[in-house]
Amino acid sequence: MQSSPQSKAFLCRRYTPKVEAALRERFALDLNEDDTILPPAEIARRARGSALLFVSATEMVDKAVIAELAPALRVIATLSVGFDHIDLEAARQAGVKVLHTPEVLSDACAEVAMLLLLNACRRGFEADRMVRSGSWPGWAPTQLLGMGLVGKRLGIFGMGRIGRAIAVRARGFGLAIHYHNRTRVQQEEGAVYHETLESLLAHSDILMIAAPGTPSLRGVINARRLDALPEGAVVVNISRGDLIDDAALVQALRSGRLRGAGLDVFANEPDIHPDYRTLDNIFLTPHIGSATHETRDAMGWLLIHGVEALDRGETPDNLLC
Ligand code: DGY
Repeated sequence: MQSSPQSKAFLCRRYTPKVEAALRERFALDLNEDDTILPPAEIARRARGSALLFVSATEMVDKAVIAELAPALRVIATLSVGFDHIDLEAARQAGVKVLHTPEVLSDACAEVAMLLLLNACRRGFEADRMVRSGSWPGWAPTQLLGMGLVGKRLGIFGMGRIGRAIAVRARGFGLAIHYHNRTRVQQEEGAVYHETLESLLAHSDILMIAAPGTPSLRGVINARRLDALPEGAVVVNISRGDLIDDAALVQALRSGRLRGAGLDVFANEPDIHPDYRTLDNIFLTPHIGSATHETRDAMGWLLIHGVEALDRGETPDNLLC
């Protein structure tokens, strides 16, 4: 069945005004006006009878939600490239199509990756606090010394679209690119490939985690792997929080074995590991990788165009299943 202005659609989070207007023009839209994170049972209740369900990375669309909403449900569209919050197998079995938003957010995420990297290496949090708090005694030759980037090795774990966008920017800062990926990329542009994560870690002055959030990678950056990084290394995470063992990272930062970290993503957001808040050598941002006006509009349009392509019987590039 094709979508029409009569098709019921439920929007779980507030999208940008332009995208919401476009959704209203195309569907009979109901939405979660107050933009809270809806638990699965509430999604199932409020979206009952909907042909289209628009979500984001914060909504758990599990087997039970899909079972409740099928057979009316045709499409689940998530305003995220990550899809670890959706039970794809359950969707496949129920004949529900799933769309996500790859490509359009790679540049924005790479920008935040560099923001984290620079702040972690150059002590952005401490510097900002010193000025803001009035505790700056004035310039001093040894004040807030950080790690310079030129000639250092950036180890990118996950050389997909976002990883490659990060590499482009990092080269401009004089970093040598190393990477580990399931498959070797075609156009390496001088990057050094490591067949194992262990080898990458041993060669990373800065570790950039850009691998997708999948259950198989949960906890992959554990105490043993953090220990494999060179003394004084920096860790940056732009992927999903649960790839890191939080307690192990806190311990490595607290002991000074690692110089610093920059994190945009966390396990159990927004209830992050409390010790992160107590450390000075860490720069924290609240999952803002794709948060630009341009990108969030483009993500919304990608979903709308995906639904339109499905209506025409085509297979859009952003179809997951
Ligand atoms: C993504 O796209 O997966 C981001 O993490 C959230 O939008």
